[in-house]
Amino acid sequence: MITPWDVEGAVDYERLMREFGIRPFSEIIDEIPNPHPLMRRGVVFGHRDYDRIVRAMKRREEWAVMSGFMPSGLPHLGHKMTMDEIVWHQKMGGKAFVCVADIEARFVRGLNRDKLRSFGELYIRSIVALGLRPKNCLIYYQSANRHVKDLAIELSSETNFSELRAVYGFKPETSLIKMFVPMIQAGDILHPQLKDFGGFKPVVVPVGIDQDPHLRLTRDLANRISIYSFEGIEGGVRVRSRRGREYLEHLKTLEFDFKAYEEHIDFFGDRETIEREIRKIEVEIGGYAFIPPSSTYHKFTTGLRGGKMSSSKPESYISLFDKPDEGAKKVMKALTGGRVTVEEQRRFGGDPDKCVVFELYTYHFADDKTLEEVRRDCTEGKLLCGRCKRNLAEIVKDFLRDFQERADSVDLSDYEILE
Ligand code: TRP
Ligand code: SF4
Repeated sequence: MITPWDVEGAVDYERLMREFGIRPFSEIIDEIPNPHPLMRRGVVFGHRDYDRIVRAMKRREEWAVMSGFMPSGLPHLGHKMTMDEIVWHQKMGGKAFVCVADIEARFVRGLNRDKLRSFGELYIRSIVALGLRPKNCLIYYQSANRHVKDLAIELSSETNFSELRAVYGFKPETSLIKMFVPMIQAGDILHPQLKDFGGFKPVVVPVGIDQDPHLRLTRDLANRISIYSFEGIEGGVRVRSRRGREYLEHLKTLEFDFKAYEEHIDFFGDRETIEREIRKIEVEIGGYAFIPPSSTYHKFTTGLRGGKMSSSKPESYISLFDKPDEGAKKVMKALTGGRVTVEEQRRFGGDPDKCVVFELYTYHFADDKTLEEVRRDCTEGKLLCGRCKRNLAEIVKDFLRDFQERADSVDLSDYEILE
């Protein structure tokens, strides 16, 4: 079982996708105008309902991207990946919601207020240094966002213990706060669709697959708390009401062809257009009309010495605030896919697909051309690991120096920050 709190051993992405109905990202990538390198390189490997986002992007309709960071330690390259994804989506036209998950960090990791603040600020400076623009964006601490907390309370009224137990493996002695944290995260994910933020819209949440339980729950809740539910049928959509039949009456004024039954109405025409018009009616009569959130899933970042990256082991990751020299040193100690001896490596080549150094190039530090060169020279035995690591160490050192300079000097006064 994979939960947001334990990811054990090697991750079988294929199995997880099959089991939970996550679609391969490859099936949709050709429709995306100018996909992000992480998408083209298969690092972003899965999605739910990303077609919704692609359509909104292309038609220049309103949509949003949202994700969150627990400020329980220094931001590292794993966080950079999510930040890069948010920044890219914002560039593609989405409104960006950036959550500093201080409530979660406080109760799950036991941090005090000062620590949460100082780490939180580093996350905010990081994503801004990585290119987040002040326009079309909201940065917030969970504890300062009333909409998120109100929504969490509201959503709890639709959630019961056995459901949480099924999703998260909770036990009778599990603390209530562990159950409330997913409610808050559902609030994070759905609140961009509240009236105060312009109403219902497609929202994409880029995350690692450990967060998928939260997304499954949130998608369920989005449906359950809204008045109308939709189901595709031949040539249209079947609409039901969760609040009894009377609510179906409101829909009969719509201009689409329809056939009304006792418990549902079948509408005929373009499904999306019909759903949009019905959601508008739902908002008018005081409902939420949430669209279930879309999501993308990226691969986990491997620890520098192999295995899991862990925030309690600083030698297992490169933090964005490591001293540039330290970062370079960590690269030199990283696990490679090289052979035991130089002779063997010259003869048989290395294995970039089992190499943490190559992973770093792929996720963060190489354009397409360089990446192909490294792969080719490595597999042909022309490039030895020592050289390869020294090259990367230089790149990492320059990156960290430059990044930290920018992070120190960013002007946050242009940004809308709820804190
Ligand atoms: N739980 C996430 C983590 O552990 C952080 C988070 C909080 C989040 N709210 C979110 C992620 C909303 C995605 C969307 O990293
Ligand atoms: Fe990895 Fe580079 Fe060694 Fe190839 S040459 S195994 S890419 S470190």
